[in-house]
Amino acid sequence: MTDQHLLLGTCDYPEHVPRDRWETYAKQQKELGLTFIRIAEFAWSRMEPRQGEYNWKWLDDAVEAYHAEGLKVVLCTPTPTPPAWLVRQHPEILPYDREGRVRDFGSRRHYDFASPVYREHSRRITRAMAERYGQHPAVVGWQTDNEFGCHDTGRSFGGASAEAFPVWLKQKYGTLDALNTAWGNVFWSMEYTDWGQIKPPNLTVTETNPSHVLDFYRFASTMIARFQEEQIVILRELSPGRFITHNFMIFETGFDHYQVARGLDFVTWDNYPLGMLEFFAPPGHGEALKTHFARTGHPDLISFNHDLYRGLLGGQEALGREGKDTPSGFWVMEQQCGQVNWAPFNPLPADGTVQLWTAQAWAHGADVVSYFRWRAATMAQEVMHSGLLRHDETPDRGFHEVKELEQAQFPVGTVPARVALLHDYESLWLYDQQKHAQSLSYWAQTLAYYSALRALGVDVDVVHADADLSGYAVAVAPAITLVSAERAAHWERAVQGGVKLVCGPRTAFRTPGGETWAEGQFGPLSALVGAKLLQYDSLRPGLSQKVSGNGKEFEAVTWAESYRLNGAEALYKYVGGPLDGQSAAIRNGNVTVIGAHSPELISAVLDKVLTGAGVDTTPLPEGVRISRRSGRTLVQNWNLEAVEWQEQQLPGVSFQFLDGI
Ligand code: GAL
Repeated sequence: MTDQHLLLGTCDYPEHVPRDRWETYAKQQKELGLTFIRIAEFAWSRMEPRQGEYNWKWLDDAVEAYHAEGLKVVLCTPTPTPPAWLVRQHPEILPYDREGRVRDFGSRRHYDFASPVYREHSRRITRAMAERYGQHPAVVGWQTDNEFGCHDTGRSFGGASAEAFPVWLKQKYGTLDALNTAWGNVFWSMEYTDWGQIKPPNLTVTETNPSHVLDFYRFASTMIARFQEEQIVILRELSPGRFITHNFMIFETGFDHYQVARGLDFVTWDNYPLGMLEFFAPPGHGEALKTHFARTGHPDLISFNHDLYRGLLGGQEALGREGKDTPSGFWVMEQQCGQVNWAPFNPLPADGTVQLWTAQAWAHGADVVSYFRWRAATMAQEVMHSGLLRHDETPDRGFHEVKELEQAQFPVGTVPARVALLHDYESLWLYDQQKHAQSLSYWAQTLAYYSALRALGVDVDVVHADADLSGYAVAVAPAITLVSAERAAHWERAVQGGVKLVCGPRTAFRTPGGETWAEGQFGPLSALVGAKLLQYDSLRPGLSQKVSGNGKEFEAVTWAESYRLNGAEALYKYVGGPLDGQSAAIRNGNVTVIGAHSPELISAVLDKVLTGAGVDTTPLPEGVRISRRSGRTLVQNWNLEAVEWQEQQLPGVSFQFLDGI
C-alpha cells in the first residue's frame, strides 16, 4: 500500500460556454475534489481560424483559469477535427468508407492517417501548441488526438491510403511473386503483375481474400502508429517532463492497440458501460441480460477493458519493443457519469452506479478516473448527453455521487493477477473474417473465457500473446488463431517453465500470412498439445451438441471441434451427432484444450486447472464480482437487488471492502 490514492478529473470544453463561466467552473471543479481537467481536443477552428492565423488568447485564459485553482491540465492535440478551411483547401486529406464514398466535413474524424498533407498539418498544429503550452506550469500532460478509430475511421478505403498501401506492400514483400505466394493469389486468379494493380480490399463482388485484408489492416494500423509517433516526437522535444497518452475505446478493433500504444507513457481509455451494453453482450444471453444490467452495465464487459488497457504497455520487451516490462497503471480519461446519447436506448444509471464504476476502475488498476463531461452541451450533436452539470448548470446525479466519493479509500498499487489471458489483434482480424458461425466472434469467444474466470473470482491480466508469461500460474488463450513458429516456441518455453496453458477452439489454426497451417491445426503447436484437429462443426441456433465426462454432461452451442489424439488424453467426449465419441476437451501435461463452446464446460475445466495450479477460486453469483488491488479486496454487486453471499448482505448496486477474500 502507498499513501497515494485514486485521483479524479473531468473533460471540459471552455470553448462551448461564455467566457464569464470559466473561473466559476474551475472553482466548482476544485471544490468537487477534482485534480485533472482535459481540454481542447476538438478546438482547432478556435486555435487557428485561418491557415497560419493563430488565436491563443482564449486558450491562454482557460488554462490560467484552471491554474489559478491549482487544477492540472491535460492538453490535447486537436487533430480529430481538421477545420473547414483545411478540408476545403485540401480535400485529398478526407477518408473513404468501405463503399468507396468520401467521408466529408461536418462532424469529426474526417481525415486519412496516410495523407502526407494531413500529416504535415498535424505536425504543424502540434508544434504550435507545444511551443505555446509545452512548459506551462499547469500543463502536466498531453493526449494525442481523440479516440483513434472512433466511427470506423481506423481505415480509409481510398485516396491517400489507397496510394500508400501498394508502397507499403512493396517494402514488406520486395517482389510480386512473394506477395502472390503469401496471399495465395492463385486461388480465383487473383495474381498481380504490377504493384499499381493492388487496391484496398473493398467493393469486391464477394468476400475478399483474408490475407489481403489482414495486410491492409496491418498497413492501416501502421499509418495510425506513424501519425501519432510524429506528434509524440514534437511533444517530447517541446514539452519535457510532461506525460503523453491517448484515450482508447471499448472493444475497438480498427488497429493493433499494442502497436499504437508504443511510445506513450501510459494508456487511457473511455468507459461508457451503458451505451456499450446495447451493442454488446456476452454470448448465450442476449436481451434478458441487457435488460438486467441496463442501468449498471455488465461488470465483465467493463473490467475486460480495464484489464486489457492495464496491460497494453506490459511485456514490451518480450514483444521486442522498448518500454516498460510490467503492466502499468492507466487512466479512465472519459467516464460515463449519466446517460450517453449514441446508443439505441440511453437509460439513466441506477443510483450508486457512478461510484461503482469508479471503484471498479480503481480495483482494476486505474490511477485516475476523469468524468465526461463537466457540463452537458447546449449545442450541436451531443445535447442529449449528460455531464456532471445539467444544461442549466445545476449539479446532475453524477456530480452528487462524485462529491460523496471518498478518494482516500482507494490506494494506488498493483493488481495481483496470477492468470494471464492472451490477446492479439491479428488473431481477431483473421477470426472475424471467417467466423463460420454467425453468432460467434473473437470477442465473444474471448469473453466467454474471461467471464468464466471472473465468475470464479480470480483476477486476470489481459496480455499480448507474445508477452512474457513468467510469474503467471495459468495462461488462457481463448481465441489465438494465429500462431507462428516463434509464438509456439514462446508458449512451449512458458509451459516448460511451469505455466499451465488453456486453449480455446481454433487455437493455432492459421499462419501469420492468414492461411491455415498445411499440416492442420495445431500447426507448430501440435507437439505441445499432443493432438491434431479432427473436425469442426458450426451449430446454428437450435442445434446443440452433448458433451460428457467426469460424470457430468454439458451442452455445446455455436461451435464444436474434435481432436485426433497423439499423446494427449481426452477429458470430455462428444455424445451423439456427427462427432459422437470424439474428444471435446483434451489435456497433454500442462496444456489443456477446450474444443466445445459451452460456458459451463469452460468454467468446469478452468476451475480444475486453476485449482491444480494453486490459484484459489471463489464461485460468484450472477452480477457479483470481486477484484483485488493494493492488498484490498473490493466486492461489487452489480444487480439492482440485494444479494446474500458468504453470509454477507450485499445491497443492490454497491461495493464494499472484504479484505482477505
Ligand atoms: C466519446 C468521445 C467524446 C464524446 C463521447 C460521448 O467516444 O471521445 O468526444 O463524443 O464519446 O459519449
